[in-house]
Parts: sequence; structure tokens; C-alpha cells
Amino acid sequence: MVQCYKFTFLIKKGAIILNGWVIYNGHLAAEAFLQFPKQIKKTGSEKNIEINVVANNHLCYQATKNGVYLKHAEGWELPSFVIFHDKDIALARQLELLDIPVYNNAQSIEICDNKVLMYQHLAKKNVNIPKTVIAPKIFSNTTTIELESFLTLAKEFSYPFIMKEGYGSFGEQVYLIHNEEEYIARIKAIYDKPFVLQEFVDSSYGRDIRIFVVGDKVVAGLKRSSDIDFRANVYLGSKVEGYHASPAEKELAVAAAKAVGATYCGVDLLIGKNGEPIICEVNTNAHVANILKHTGVNVAEPILDHIITQL
Ligand SMILES: Nc1ncnc2c1ncn2[C@@H]1O[C@H](COP(=O)(O)OP(=O)(O)O)[C@@H](O)[C@H]1O
Ligand SMILES: [Mg+2]
Repeated sequence: MVQCYKFTFLIKKGAIILNGWVIYNGHLAAEAFLQFPKQIKKTGSEKNIEINVVANNHLCYQATKNGVYLKHAEGWELPSFVIFHDKDIALARQLELLDIPVYNNAQSIEICDNKVLMYQHLAKKNVNIPKTVIAPKIFSNTTTIELESFLTLAKEFSYPFIMKEGYGSFGEQVYLIHNEEEYIARIKAIYDKPFVLQEFVDSSYGRDIRIFVVGDKVVAGLKRSSDIDFRANVYLGSKVEGYHASPAEKELAVAAAKAVGATYCGVDLLIGKNGEPIICEVNTNAHVANILKHTGVNVAEPILDHIITQL
């Protein structure tokens, strides 16, 4: 049995208003991670939607023989919807088990959190991605890695190629591999963590496009370029400017968002040798400060509008 506390719509001064939570990770409370929750709260109040910003670790999620429970440390009642700005997939699922609509939903966050799953879902929908090979699982107590099998995988590519860990962000777990020696060293360093090998799109060296999708619409775009690294992540020092996506880029970004089941997301596009867009990744938990700064677009507006229509 699923047990939930009193929730859904609040009645205030005769008008029905929605009561939402935006969840963030209480152990990642740096300003960059709070920007999105703050934007959602502020925009919510302008739209007469009551939003509470809730840290995942201020909740107690319980599974008992009598059902699924969720308690807030201060006893707040449960919301009518949740905007989930965290990767605590167990909590997202707990909310879904309580029949609370969660955006992004637990499954899409789980898919995008692990690039192995993400590329599988994009490939299943024939989305244009660089050719990607998934490394076979290695258990942590493995003492000898069978390097021959990994050398066979590398034959699917020519050097340099990309190695990317399943779990990673800010470009930190993405490597450009120039030769067999670097490849073997990296396999040993990654060891029991999931990773992929991927074709290097050299026409996109140090450049990519970040497109923000809400529902089936593109709401903003950024162009990022680096003089110092093949990776265009802002965290690694790339320059950022506002960007108007082409119809082909918009179509691909929306298809990628759909393939992973995201309601809103930041989609990274690589630029192919003929200028064609190629999906690099889909972020369900994208930072939004640069979008506001360089395009003036407050993504909280279309996100809340979209959620209201869904509810
Ligand atoms: N296959 C690729 N070819 C060329 N550049 C790539 C490729 N994959 C990633 N990159 C570069 O590395 C950056 C980080 O990769 P990404 O998959 O987005 O990981 P992260 O989640 O860490 O941002 C991208 O923004 C892009 O500039
Ligand atoms: Mg990225």
C-alpha cells in the first residue's frame, strides 16, 4: 500500500493555487546548484504558485510493511508536484510511488546520470550520436584485466578517440586518447567504473552548443568555445555567448530530450564536419546561470508553464 499525507491543491483566498517543491541536494549547496531552485521559487511566486525549496536530506523516506512514506523534517505537507534538481533517484522514485508528479521524472534522471544508459536510449531512437562502444563490466575485486579484449574494442576507432566515464560532469571524466599506451593507462585508472569509447568529432574541437529544451520546444541556446581544451565545458574555461539554434539543431535537441524522457534539459551538440549537429549528451540537471546571463532567458518561466499544462 502506498501511504501519502494530505496534499495536492491549496486553497488560498478562494483561488486554487498549486503547491510545488523544488528539490536540491543538501550536500551540494554551493551557489551554482541553488540558482535553479531560486529561479523556480521566484518565478513561481510571480505566477501565484507556492514553491518550497527542499533539500533531499531534510526528508525522511521510508519503506515499511505498511507502505511508502515521506516526511519533511519540519512537517511540511506533501506538494502537488516536484521539480527535481538532484540525482537522488531513490527520492524521485519515492515521490512517484506517492503519486506525486515529478519533473524530471526518476527514469530520465537515471538515464542521463549514466552516459552508458543515455547513449543506449539515444541510439534506440536513432538519434544522431557519435559512434559509441560500451565497455564490458569489471567487478571491483578483479585482479587481472584482460587487455586483449579492450584492444579489440579500440579497433572500432582510429586514434585519437574519446573515452568517457558513465558518471561524470563538467568535462572532468572525458578523455581524448591518442595512442594505445594512453588507452591502457586509462583503462587501468577507470578500472571498475562504467565507461564508453567514442568517435572523436574533431570538427568540434573545443566547441559545442548548449540548447535548453522544455517540452518539445527550444527555449534558449549557448555557444561555447575553448582555446585551451578539446572540451567546451564552461568549468574548464570556455567562452560563452548566446546562440540561436538552426531548425536542424532544434529538431535534433528535441528528439534527444524525448529519447531520454526529459521534460526539460540542457542538450549538448557537437558540430560535424559539414556543420551538421551531433548529440554529445543530455543533462537533466543542467546549470542555468549562463543561460540567464547570456540570453536573458529565465528557463523557470517555460518550465512552470509547461508543468501547469501537464497538471
Ligand atoms: N565525441 C566527442 N567528440 C568531440 N568532443 C567531445 C566528444 N564528446 C565530448 N566532447 C567534448 O567534451 C565535452 C564534455 O563532454 P560531455 O559528454 O558533455 O561530458 P560532461 O557531462 O562532463 O559535460 C563536450 O562539451 C565536448 O566539448
Ligand atoms: Mg556536457
